[in-house]
Amino acid sequence: MDDSNKFGKLHQQFLCCYPINKMAWSTLQLPLGLEEQRALIAATCGHPLNRRYPVRRSYQEAFVKRLLQVLKDHEELHDDIFESMCGQLAKASLQEEAASEPAASNYAYKHYVLQPGEHITLRESNSFVSEGTTGLCTWEAALALADYLLQHAELVRDKHVLELGAGAGLLGILLKQRSLQLHVGRVLLTDGSAACVQLLRHNIALNFADVNDVAGTPQCAALRWNEVAQFEWAQHAVPQLLLAADVVYDESQFEWLLQALDYIFELAGNGCRMLLASTVRNVDTLHKFMVKLEEHHYLVTPCANVSACASHFCRDHTAAVQIVCITR
Ligand SMILES: C[S@@+](CC[C@H](N)C(=O)[O-])C[C@H]1O[C@@H](n2cnc3c(N)ncnc32)[C@H](O)[C@@H]1O
Repeated sequence: MDDSNKFGKLHQQFLCCYPINKMAWSTLQLPLGLEEQRALIAATCGHPLNRRYPVRRSYQEAFVKRLLQVLKDHEELHDDIFESMCGQLAKASLQEEAASEPAASNYAYKHYVLQPGEHITLRESNSFVSEGTTGLCTWEAALALADYLLQHAELVRDKHVLELGAGAGLLGILLKQRSLQLHVGRVLLTDGSAACVQLLRHNIALNFADVNDVAGTPQCAALRWNEVAQFEWAQHAVPQLLLAADVVYDESQFEWLLQALDYIFELAGNGCRMLLASTVRNVDTLHKFMVKLEEHHYLVTPCANVSACASHFCRDHTAAVQIVCITR
């Protein structure tokens, strides 16, 4: 059996930097023999994806520390395993030091495993807020919406999709994964932050290096909600499905976001629908936005309870994510 399959959950969780203390340590059938210890390393810090596009060094350190603890508590730790783990960390440090741009060390990679052998790799910031935006890393709401879309593939089939506040680009990159055969129309990822648009371009190139046709890859562009009328709409397909994840948190942006929605719904002759995913941090803030949607004559329908869905993406589930469908 492939090492990644054997340690499937830990492999998937390690590659997307799932919180160490919530990892599926209990799936390890201890004690592990030398070969099993080797296989576990090969499925996590020694995995080719991590060697080529390493996850955050501090995360790798925390993982190794915890793994050493788990192994030591239950059996003798083999010397060459210890050395191998230290070797991985030393390599991660060197890679970080060798990063050419000064800002590069603020970034690392995450790999979202979809099924054995299929994954999305994203470059993401190590900080929740950097370069004046919150969009340089993937948020819970995007992971929840990604799961929801995979479970309701009929919502995206043959639809031209536009995402607002796309951040690092997970959703659009997911929709265009050939192996998933979702048959989505054009996908346009937009964000108001120049740093996000640069990151979107980078992440699209990373995941579609071997795809040449425009229809087979997501596109990206700068779109600030207060400048929606100046956007070059003629160059893009009229959206039939709007997506947005974790964009309802700053009340000062509500009017601009609504202005953008009004403009886009009108452009689409009200023939589009929007799926909005929001992490429920502050109930009042979300409620205020829902009231404003109604004032702008939108119909808001709650979608199925996402926490109850089987999840393809490793989500922390501590914060609830609300997904609503918006029509007019
Ligand atoms: C919390 S992040 C969410 C990113 C991504 N959707 C996710 O869930 O991982 C919010 C995103 O909205 C974008 N944003 C915020 N205000 C905006 C505005 N006025 N115009 C366009 N984008 C905006 C930010 O740049 C950022 O990428």
